[in-house]
Amino acid sequence: MNSKEWKPLNSSGNKRVIVTKALPGERWLEILTDADCRVEVCTSPDILTVDEIKAAIGDRCDGVIGQLTEAWGDTLFAALKAAGGRAYSNYAVGYNNVDVAAATHWGMPVGNTPGVLTETTAEMAVALTFAAARRIVEADAFMRGGSFNGWLPTLLLGNLMRGSTVGVIGAGRIGSTYARMMVEGFKMNLVYFDPYPNETLEATVAGYADFLESRGESRVSCTRLDSVEAVLKSADVVSLHPVLDETTHHLINAERLGLMKEDAILVNTGRGPVVDESALVAHCQTHPQFRVGLDVFEAEPAMRPGLSELDNVVIVPHIASATRWTREGMAILAAANVAGILSGYPVWSDQTNILPFLGQEPPQAAPSIVNANEVGLQAYVK
Ligand code: DGY
Repeated sequence: MNSKEWKPLNSSGNKRVIVTKALPGERWLEILTDADCRVEVCTSPDILTVDEIKAAIGDRCDGVIGQLTEAWGDTLFAALKAAGGRAYSNYAVGYNNVDVAAATHWGMPVGNTPGVLTETTAEMAVALTFAAARRIVEADAFMRGGSFNGWLPTLLLGNLMRGSTVGVIGAGRIGSTYARMMVEGFKMNLVYFDPYPNETLEATVAGYADFLESRGESRVSCTRLDSVEAVLKSADVVSLHPVLDETTHHLINAERLGLMKEDAILVNTGRGPVVDESALVAHCQTHPQFRVGLDVFEAEPAMRPGLSELDNVVIVPHIASATRWTREGMAILAAANVAGILSGYPVWSDQTNILPFLGQEPPQAAPSIVNANEVGLQAYVK
């Protein structure tokens, strides 16, 4: 097939599905096995090139589970179509690596994995916020380096979150969950920017403010601001959660970083190219009180020169969704997308409730197909 190793599973299946990376758990394989698929899994951790994936598709392939690190565009969808393919699923909720228009052109459904990453990713954004605010990585290195010679009033001072202002850019599933964690956990006031008001979030914060007041505590607030700039200027912590597209590429640039408070915290668990990483390095170099928590990078897996030398930046390797429950859930949803389409099932339409797919009797539907209407798939009716 090609130089990378591929492991065959359920060899007696009649439909051929390729999976471009090893996935966690076992349930995903049962789902594909039940749908009469034989599965070939690439066991190499290396990122596959378009040519390698094309070679793996070969002249017979019914479906693919691919990764956010791969460029799924016209070449691969044409190859999949020519090989008799009928389904593609990304193993991710984000699908900026997929040219959905090209997939639609070839009549190929594109699946993704919403609903199982929300809390996990928001929790990582909280973790990065506090790692940055309380200088956890610097402090850890300090201890390991043998520099701790006794308690000092001024040692490694950080920022108190309670009662300060958290800013969220992009108040969708993950952004609004992070916002709630910060407001309800640390009694922060919330400002957010999103093209659409998030009424549920606003009502939740208002309800929490009423609860606090009933206990004689200060209320918290939630304000939707009319620009990214307004959020950057007023927040003590800003967490980025917009979808990556041409309108949000380098949304955070030198000029906008210049609007932020001297000792603000910036967190990115969304997509790297939302931040101009060179501008961020320059800003952190000249603003030592400014702190950053990054899970994603502009040119992953590479980092911009200078980033890794900065004490005021906490960096982790795109692991915000990396809990066992979530990664196994993503595998189940991606498998159910492919198996569902290959079995001729309709498409689940309640994106707010994807959890039935994790149970032992999942609905007979493909959980999430982003171009379902465009490729003419039917919606699931109970
Ligand atoms: C996604 O699913 O889009 C995430 O980035 C994976 O962690």
